[in-house]
Formats: sequence, structure tokens, C-alpha cells
Amino acid sequence: MDVLQLPALLEELPKERTQLLDNLGRIRREIGPITPELSDALADAMDLRRGDVHEVASFYSYLGVPVDARRVCTGPVCDCMGAQADGAVAVPCLGHCDLAPVTMEGDDVTGGVRHRANGFLLEPDELRPAPDLPPEDVLTRLESSGLTGMGGAAFPTWRKWEAVRAEPGPRVVIVNADEGEPGTFKDRYLMELRPQLVLEGLEIAMRFCETEEAYVYLREEYATARTTLQEAIAARGLPVEIVVGAGSYVCGEETAMLESMEGRRGMPRLRPPYPAQAGYLGRPTLINNVETLAHVPRILRGEWTPGRLWSVSGAVREPGCFEAPLDVTARRLIDDHAGGATEEIGAIVPGGAASGILPPAALDVALTAEALREWGAAPGSAGLQVFPASYPLQRLLSETMRFFAEESCQKCTPCRIGTRALHHHFAGSLELTQAKMDEWMDAMEKTSICGLGQAAPLPVRTALRHWPEEARWSS
Ligand SMILES: Cc1cc2nc3c(=O)[nH]c(=O)nc-3n(C[C@H](O)[C@H](O)[C@H](O)COP(=O)(O)O)c2cc1C
Ligand code: SF4
Repeated sequence: MDVLQLPALLEELPKERTQLLDNLGRIRREIGPITPELSDALADAMDLRRGDVHEVASFYSYLGVPVDARRVCTGPVCDCMGAQADGAVAVPCLGHCDLAPVTMEGDDVTGGVRHRANGFLLEPDELRPAPDLPPEDVLTRLESSGLTGMGGAAFPTWRKWEAVRAEPGPRVVIVNADEGEPGTFKDRYLMELRPQLVLEGLEIAMRFCETEEAYVYLREEYATARTTLQEAIAARGLPVEIVVGAGSYVCGEETAMLESMEGRRGMPRLRPPYPAQAGYLGRPTLINNVETLAHVPRILRGEWTPGRLWSVSGAVREPGCFEAPLDVTARRLIDDHAGGATEEIGAIVPGGAASGILPPAALDVALTAEALREWGAAPGSAGLQVFPASYPLQRLLSETMRFFAEESCQKCTPCRIGTRALHHHFAGSLELTQAKMDEWMDAMEKTSICGLGQAAPLPVRTALRHWPEEARWSS
């Protein structure tokens, strides 16, 4: 730590509250992990209440961690592959599940970032001018394509774009690149392999919203993507600012992301108003996932066939990110794209941690919302994780619920207590009756403010349904 540099750095840092997270990140990088003293010094320099800055600094798990720390992923796929923290910083997900078990030394992924991909991910990432169509045509083409959001909620994209344009300017566009759902790394592949395609989609969105104000909210662990994006932004000359997160999964929830960007803790807002009406600093804001935007130029050019990117990881020979139709099955993804299973499959998670846990009997089910609903699950963010029969179901449940407990922002009581109680139940340190589990899960689903608490019961519900004996396990 070089505290002698602190006064000069504080002098240089912008004073607007919206820069608080960025300022904390810079101090961490250039001076050292945020201590109470550094937090106070920044508060004084920005003319903010010291308590406010402490509150924000303590919300993010990385601000107190040295930039060159060794981090070990302990998410379900890495855990299944034997990850051990061994004195390093244990992180619930590092976003590189295709390279599991994953460790990072500072910004670098041990062994380097590699890709296994197909389809449009492998096409040359040329800087093409964004198609310039009248807004009505853009909406018509998006509507007839059937494109829905790829961030997990599957909201029709054209409806959101129309809602933002219906509000008076100035408007803002934000790319959600926080991608924190364990098992999901498709947005990282896009930013690393096709940054110009993503930016072309962003340019179309900015033109549609008649705005020159745009941001990419990027998760901290994606240093390679940060570089490729920065280079692509410079090459395209687009006025886009990258906001780097600090290790909070819930900040991927769009209203938590707005809070984070406005210099507060990343706690989801009550809705309405929706971001389309009152988003970043109260302005109408279009928030789209990285992949959603990458599909837009291809749709407008008539080059798109309905499909999406699937992240495939776990017990497969060639984990990676693959373009496939919307109704692909897990078996096709595993056998045709990911080189087949490495051992007998015990369970699959179809679309990221919050999408449910399914038995091998579901391998031939189309991974669509309609077909998965029959199994109590959802396609979510299309992060297919394959777990071997040798990995105990209770361990998968306990690790999944630990993730949600660690990442809950703590605003809603059922989410705060329910995720932790379920984690302890499956870890064997708390015995919950079936009735008690149901009571907690009902409360989480019905009363949580955001999708984290609402969807966290899904892995448990699906496990209880498909493995009634094992999942009802108690110590
Ligand atoms: C806990 C939580 C985490 C989320 N994380 C992400 C994320 O990392 N990336 C993302 O695009 N959407 C994420 N979402 C969904 C966003 O709130 C939002 O629906 C999405 O960014 C909208 O873009 P889309 O319509 O293009 O999908 C998350 C939602 C929740 C509840
Ligand atoms: S559901 Fe959980 S993560 Fe979402 S606002 Fe409530 S406490 Fe926070």
C-alpha cells in the first residue's frame, strides 16, 4: 500500500456521487484494499457522509481484497471438480465455469482464458456500420423476430424499447454485463470474441433512444472482456463508459445495478416505476443484456435465425459456449457440442443456479420455458451445468443455497433468512421439517422484492419433486 500517493489521488478523483464505486475501485487498485481510514478519506474528499461511504464500501466483497489476491471459485461446478480455497479468497462464482476448477491471480485466470465455441461467435468481428432504420421499422423487425431478453427474465425486447422511447428524453442506455449467475458465461464469450457486434447492437439502441449517454456495467472478474471492450469502444468511437462492479451478484438485477451506479449499495428498488420510466438518475433507461443486444444487428440485417447462446459446463469433455436453437435439448448440447459426458450424469441444471435441478430423465426435454415448466424448471440464463452421479445432490443443494445466502442483499426478511436456513439444512447444520421448508419457500416466492429471493427456492422445489427421498434428507 502506498498511502503517500493518497492525497494526490483524492485530489484527482471526481466528486459526483455516481463516481463513488469507481473511486473506491481506483483507490483499491492504486493504494490498497479499502480500510475504514481510506473510506473516511474518500468521504471527506467527495463531501459525503462517512457512514454512507462505509455502507457502500462494505457491501461489495472485493473492495477489501488486495488486487493481486489469489481467488478460488467455490461455485457448484468448481466445487464438484474439487476446488479448495486453501487460504486463498473463496469466491462463490468467478464466471469461467468452462475452465473449472477456476482460480485467479489478481486479474489473470490461471492457465489463461480459452474458448470453445461455434456459430456466430466464431465469425470475424468486423467493425460494421450499424443499420440505420427508422424507429418504427426497428420495432417491427424486433417484434416479428420474437426476440426476448437473454438476461434471464425473457421480456419481449421490442416492448421494452417501445416503452423507453415513449418517455420524454434525455434517455440512457445500459448494457447489463454483470453476468454473475453460476454456470453462465455466454456474455463473457461475446465481449471477448464479438465486442464489435455487441457495440453495434448498443449503437442501434442509442440511436433508437436518441441518446449519447450509454454505460456497460461489467463484472469485476472479466478483465479480458474489459480489455477487448475498451479497444472496441475506442475503435468504434462510441461514447460509452464502462462501470466496473466489485463482486456483487445481485447488482445484475437491473434496479440494484442502478443503485450501484448512483453510488449506493446494490439493493433492488421497489417497482413501479420501472427503469423504462425512471431509471438511471430518474431518466428513462433502456437496460439490456449483452447477448440481447448482440442479436439486434443480425435481426435488423435479416441474418438471424432464432436461437441463443448456451454456456455448457461440468461433467462434459469439451465445455464451452455454443449457439443452438431455442428448443435444443440438454442431450444435444452435451453430445453434439460439448464432446459428450465424462461420466454417468446424476443431475442437470438447465439455465443457471436459479433455474432448478433436474434428473437425467430430463435430458431429452426441449430447453424452452413451456417444456421446462412441466418439470418445474426454467431456461433462465441458458447456463447448462452437468453434474456427475458421484456428486451428492445434498451437496449441490447446499452449495447452491449458500450462493444465494451469500449474495442476498438482505433487504427482505424471507430472502435473508430463508436462503441461509435452506443452506444450513442441506449442509446438515439445521434440521427443517418439510412443512417449515415449504413455509419459508412460499414466503420467499410471494414476498421477496426481486428475482433472487423469488427464484432461490426453485432448486429445492425441483429437487424435492424429482428426488423426493433424497432431497427431504435431514441429519
Ligand atoms: C439476482 C438477479 C441477477 C441478475 N443478473 C443479471 C445479469 O448478470 N445480467 C443480465 O443481463 N441480467 C441479469 N438479471 C436480469 C436483469 O434484472 C434484467 O432483467 C436484464 O438485464 C434485462 O435485460 P434483457 O431484457 O436484455 O434480458 C438479473 C436478475 C436478478 C433478479
Ligand atoms: S429478494 Fe433478496 S436479494 Fe432481492 S431485494 Fe430481497 S433480500 Fe435483496
